[in-house]
Amino acid sequence: MADQVNHKEVHGLLVEVALAAGDMIVAAQPHIATVGTKQNSADLVTETDKAVEQYAIALLKEKYPEFDFLGEETYTTGKKLTDKPTFICDPIDGTVNFVHTFPNVCISLALAIHKKPVVGVVYNPYTTHLYSAIKGQGSFLTMPFRSKSTAPIENRRVRLPHNPNPPPLGGLDKSLVAVEWGSHRTGHNWDVKYETFAKLAGSREQGGKMVHSLRSMGSAALNFCAVAAGQIDVYWEGGCWAWDVAAGWLILTEAGGIVVDANPGNWSPTVDGRRYMAVRAAPTGQREIVEEFWSIIPEGGYNYSA
Ligand code: IPD
Repeated sequence: MADQVNHKEVHGLLVEVALAAGDMIVAAQPHIATVGTKQNSADLVTETDKAVEQYAIALLKEKYPEFDFLGEETYTTGKKLTDKPTFICDPIDGTVNFVHTFPNVCISLALAIHKKPVVGVVYNPYTTHLYSAIKGQGSFLTMPFRSKSTAPIENRRVRLPHNPNPPPLGGLDKSLVAVEWGSHRTGHNWDVKYETFAKLAGSREQGGKMVHSLRSMGSAALNFCAVAAGQIDVYWEGGCWAWDVAAGWLILTEAGGIVVDANPGNWSPTVDGRRYMAVRAAPTGQREIVEEFWSIIPEGGYNYSA
């Protein structure tokens, strides 16, 4: 079955679902939508997250009834990503942003085969930026553009990264780094997280890396896309799930970036491994920046696992 999947056809469907789902997200009124919590008061879910996932399931199952589906809102503990063709869906990545009307929100849709993404689509309906990739065919951003304020808006499709000759990576002290706070704020993983943030941002005199700055934009999928675009040099994350990263992962790697483990030593992480470091395309310096980053991670690193 996997050999016969037409990636281009799946791509077309995922784009169609993402655009329609984006309309649902924009039409929803986050300030009056029912907001619930999951594991704690910062782990939010809204009726729109659930409605969008149901909508995606209905369309995807109609066309591909034999494929599996792994989605954030229908996930049940213990469900594993398998080798079967599987649609992986985060109906709203950036739910906290959505609730606060902070417009860094997207739907993230991927098809994985043998646990590896082969088609990925990430759509932010507020900016109408659509990122997409098919395995082996590069990554693209479709976005509204006008050359000056009086010119008509046109839709442009550009290949990522934006700079076709990205500069070498110069090390952490020359980098803009994305990190996320997540919703789990106690215990070992929390200690690893904030100690690493302090090391990244702190001055050389204090044993820090003095990165240009840290960004925390609230959506793993859009962070991956920003690294793919070359706007962020490195994104370091622990604790999120396959649905947060699957589409962005392919968009990044098709744009020449790499994904390694957030913990030291593992150059080949898995989509469902819950620990990720994404590095932008560069002619040199990818390996060096990963090793430099790994060197500051507290003993033991994260204990998140698939
Ligand atoms: C969250 C975002 C956030 C990441 C969290 C995710 P959600 O996804 O991707 O950037 O740090 O771990 O849970 O809950 O908005 O779909």
